[in-house]
Amino acid sequence: DRKLRAQLYEVNALATKLYNHILMNHPAGAQGLSYLLERGLTKKTIAQFQLGYSPANGRDLVQFLRKRGFSVDLIVQAGLGLISSDGELFDRFRNRVMFPIADLQGRTIGFGARTLTGDDPKYINTQETPIFRKGNILYGYALARQGIRKTGKAVLLEGYMDVIALHQHGITHAIASLGTALTTEQAAILRRAVADEVILLYDGDSAGQKATQKSIEILRDMDIPIRVAQMPQDVDPDEAIRKQGVDAFRSDVLDKAVSALEYQLIQLTHKHPQHMTTDRIDYLRDAISILALEESSIEREAMAEWLSKTYAISLAALKDDLNTQVRLKS
Ligand code: CTP
Ligand code: MN
Ligand code: MN
Ligand code: MN
Ligand code: MN
Repeated sequence: DRKLRAQLYEVNALATKLYNHILMNHPAGAQGLSYLLERGLTKKTIAQFQLGYSPANGRDLVQFLRKRGFSVDLIVQAGLGLISSDGELFDRFRNRVMFPIADLQGRTIGFGARTLTGDDPKYINTQETPIFRKGNILYGYALARQGIRKTGKAVLLEGYMDVIALHQHGITHAIASLGTALTTEQAAILRRAVADEVILLYDGDSAGQKATQKSIEILRDMDIPIRVAQMPQDVDPDEAIRKQGVDAFRSDVLDKAVSALEYQLIQLTHKHPQHMTTDRIDYLRDAISILALEESSIEREAMAEWLSKTYAISLAALKDDLNTQVRLKS
């Protein structure tokens, strides 16, 4: 109900403040602060994203919240506290860098928490609560809203640090789906917010590529225009922007984003490494079935012409097979 939700917002706001205070001012957060500074974040960025630290002792937050009058039950419901087997309340998050996750209006509704010690899992997140569903929000959206409006575009990333790094470097229309797969709810937010196009930019590993493929399908189903940018092998956007600087990042990555169709045809060459020689026919057959899924006949035609030139096959033959597939589909 309304009152419960209001209290959950309040307790999350207080937790955000306490974690941030510990990170910035307290010996218990010193390790977290040097970690973030070493990863290239400025204090201004840390303040903007309200990053924090959950101390190791496992009592500070719940004691602070109990003193402010919040019930044990509410603290547990918010995902901020747990009850031990002997009935004691303790902090859910311990010894981790805290990333507050905001709703579309910018209110904290949950947290992502990163270990500094190589624990597995690397990140833990608030479980589902009455105000928090991970698949319902886009990380960074409230801060990106203006940038998205101004450019008409959104850059869709995987992770917390990717969003933060891009914003720090002035690319303020960056958001993340938090983890890999985009949900239809997240796509619906993008459809309302983005006038021009979504630029997909996931990590340069196999998980990132799989997620790109999946997100392309979801966005295409919802008629959201997209382009796909690509990372070099085993690099993510946060690493790339730090390594090459923002200007090279813009020109080598963002400005080189290709259409979804072109991306898929490039991916297909990895499946057929001999696509220029012995696997040419296999490759072309698969390429035609990808082309057949493209709604825009302009795009289909353009890529058919490209295939014809690149693989020295007549446009007529390609179009013949393509038209058969398009007809079979409809
Ligand atoms: N993620 C998660 N739980 C995990 C791993 C990942 O929720 N155990 C989510 C986080 O939102 C993370 C995103 O998936 O930011 C992308 O994961 P990954 O690429 O593995 O992490 P990075 O964001 O690159 O993390 P970092 O740079 O801090 O190592
Ligand atoms: Mn990843
Ligand atoms: Mn990373
Ligand atoms: Mn990553
Ligand atoms: Mn083959």
